[in-house]
Amino acid sequence: MSRPDISVDICGVRLKNPVIAASGTYGFGEEYTDLYPLERLGGISCKGTTLQPKDGNIPPRIAETPSGILNSVGLQNPGVEHFIKTDLPRLKKQDVAVIANIAGAGIEDYAETAARLDETDVDIIEVNISCPNVKQGGATWGVTCAGAESVTKAVRNATKKPIMIKLTPNVTDITEIARAVEAQGADAVSLINTLLGMRIDINTRRPILHNNVGGLSGPAVFPVAVRMVWQVHNAIKLPIVGMGGISSAADAVEMMLAGASAVQIGTAIFNDPYVPIKVSQGIERYLSDNGIAKVSDIVGQVRPWE
Ligand SMILES: Cc1cc2nc3c(=O)[nH]c(=O)nc-3n(C[C@H](O)[C@H](O)[C@H](O)COP(=O)(O)O)c2cc1C
Repeated sequence: MSRPDISVDICGVRLKNPVIAASGTYGFGEEYTDLYPLERLGGISCKGTTLQPKDGNIPPRIAETPSGILNSVGLQNPGVEHFIKTDLPRLKKQDVAVIANIAGAGIEDYAETAARLDETDVDIIEVNISCPNVKQGGATWGVTCAGAESVTKAVRNATKKPIMIKLTPNVTDITEIARAVEAQGADAVSLINTLLGMRIDINTRRPILHNNVGGLSGPAVFPVAVRMVWQVHNAIKLPIVGMGGISSAADAVEMMLAGASAVQIGTAIFNDPYVPIKVSQGIERYLSDNGIAKVSDIVGQVRPWE
């Protein structure tokens, strides 16, 4: 058999393999260019960018947990103009899909950030709806259908670029939110963002994170992510980019069987920066070993018990 085809199409954008570095865990790729060409990845989802530069939260911002980490980095970033002038041109010189990940405190921030990116050659805009809705008491946009709809609608009206809405797992029924963003013109969804958690130092009785609470990621969240991807795959027709705890090719294949057309890898990169490459190679091996010609043939192919 000839080599399997591991390329995928996510809302009209071709990725040479289905592995994307997850937002916030890979910066803008710069630190990794000494290790390997970024072209080995299917795509890079850049650190979340906002209209204005942001400092992020006060340290400590990372706590260790069994099989994962808790982070409250906040959206520390140099702002969208810096991204457009400095990082994007450097990334676009390489043959890798560039996904801009955007965040905002208000609807206008999301819309304006998307509008600025509309004039660039960024491939996909990923919209992080796990940010607090500052005007309405600080609950995150993505925990209600109304909040998720309003952000999706505003970004849709601001850009013709493919938009991928990144869903939060901190909800009762993720399929409702997925349906709501599909109805407002999203081109794809990505999930999951981090699960809200907390750690306490028993000697000082202080939360370990200065922000008190933070987002859990890493292998601990993997089964939750697989379950949610499977549920969303059964609820909507849009392509899904699956993430949450993936650290091996077997995990990536599992996520794709659940319904993901591509995957993102985040926390595992902190342990081993080569993980995305190993996962891409391992997916190809799995396809060869099983006589499967195209990676897209495994998407959603789990055979649930009746
Ligand atoms: C330190 C850190 C920073 C993150 N920053 C962002 C961010 O800026 N925007 C975003 O959408 N997700 C962000 N995430 C969430 C990841 O992109 C991903 O959804 C989550 O970590 C689950 O995947 P993983 O278990 O492979 O890390 C961040 C995660 C970590 C650990």
